[in-house]
Amino acid sequence: MNPADVKTFFRNHWTVRKYKSVPMPEDHLDAILYAAQRAPTDATAQMYTFIRLTDSDVRQQMADLTRNAHINTASESFVICADIHRLESLLKHRGYTPGNYPAVAVHFAVGDAVMAAQNMLIAAEMLGYMGCWIGGVMNNLPEITRLLKLPEGVFPFAALTIGVPDEEHKLRPRLDRALVVHENSYQDPTPEALSQAFEEMAAITSRGDWALSLSRYFAQGGSMEVREGHLRQVLHQQGFAHVSTADQLFQQAVKAGFPELVVRQKGAADLEAWLDQGHLAYRGDGGHLTEALENALMEALKERTE
Ligand SMILES: Cc1cc2nc3c(=O)[nH]c(=O)nc-3n(C[C@H](O)[C@H](O)[C@H](O)COP(=O)(O)O)c2cc1C
Repeated sequence: MNPADVKTFFRNHWTVRKYKSVPMPEDHLDAILYAAQRAPTDATAQMYTFIRLTDSDVRQQMADLTRNAHINTASESFVICADIHRLESLLKHRGYTPGNYPAVAVHFAVGDAVMAAQNMLIAAEMLGYMGCWIGGVMNNLPEITRLLKLPEGVFPFAALTIGVPDEEHKLRPRLDRALVVHENSYQDPTPEALSQAFEEMAAITSRGDWALSLSRYFAQGGSMEVREGHLRQVLHQQGFAHVSTADQLFQQAVKAGFPELVVRQKGAADLEAWLDQGHLAYRGDGGHLTEALENALMEALKERTE
C-alpha cells in the first residue's frame, strides 16, 4: 500500500446503519475476531470482552434498549465491554488479591476495548463490510447490564454492528486538521477557527446547524447529562467508581464501627472531620467535607490494620 491507497481506504469508511440481510461466513467472522485480538493492549492484560449477540430475542431487546434498530438487522452485532473481571479472576486463581484502582481500570479497560473493537471494524471493512458504533447503550445502561448478566468489573462501553451496506456511501466531514493535531503543546482554537469549524461541519446535519446538533447532546439539558447519571450508577454498581460522596464515605465508616461524625471549620478554607467510636476518635483534614472524611476514614482503618 502507498499513502494514496491508505487515504482511499479510509475515504471509503463510512458509518452504515442499513444492511443487506446476509449472514457473515465463518471465515470472515474468524478473521475479524482475530484482528480484534491482535490489537495492542495495556500490560497485555486484554481488559475487554465482546458479547456477540446471536439470540434473536436478545438482539431485539438490545435494539430496543439502545434505540438502534440495526442491532437486529446487521450480519453481526456485538456489545463491547470494558472488563477487569476476568483479570481479577486470573489474579485470584494464582492467589493474588486484586488491587483497588477503579479510575485506572476505566482508563485502560475502555482503551483496550476500543482498540480491539476498532481493529475488528477495520478488518471487516477490508472484507467489504461496514459498521456502526453504538453509544446508545448509554440510553439504558442498567437494563443492558442486567440483560447481558455482566458481573462486577464489567461495563458495556458501546455496541458495534457489522454488515454489508445497503445504503449510499456518505462521506461525513471532519474538523480541519489544525484543530485536532497540535504541535508540542495544546493550542486553543481562535474564534475564527471555531466559526470556520461550524461551516465545515454544517453538512453533517440536515438543517446545516452543527451547533444545534451538538447542543442536543452536550449542552445543558442535553442527553449527555441524562447519560451521566446512568453511567455513574452503573460504574458504581459494577465496581468502577471511586467512593466519592460524603454519604458513601460515612456509610463505610458506620460499617467499620464509627457511627459518629463531627465536622469543624478550621480557618477559611480547611475542614477537619472526626470519626468517633466512644473512646476512639480519628481526625482527617481537607479542603472539603469528602476529602476530610476520606482522610479520617483512612486514619481509622490504618490504625485498625496496624
Ligand atoms: C463511541 C461512538 C458511539 C456512537 N454511537 C452511535 C449511535 O448510538 N447510533 C448511531 O447511529 N451512530 C453512532 N455512532 C456513529 C457516529 O454517529 C459516526 O461515527 C459519526 O457520525 C461519523 O460518521 P462516519 O463514521 O460515517 O464518518 C457512534 C460512534 C462512536 C465512535
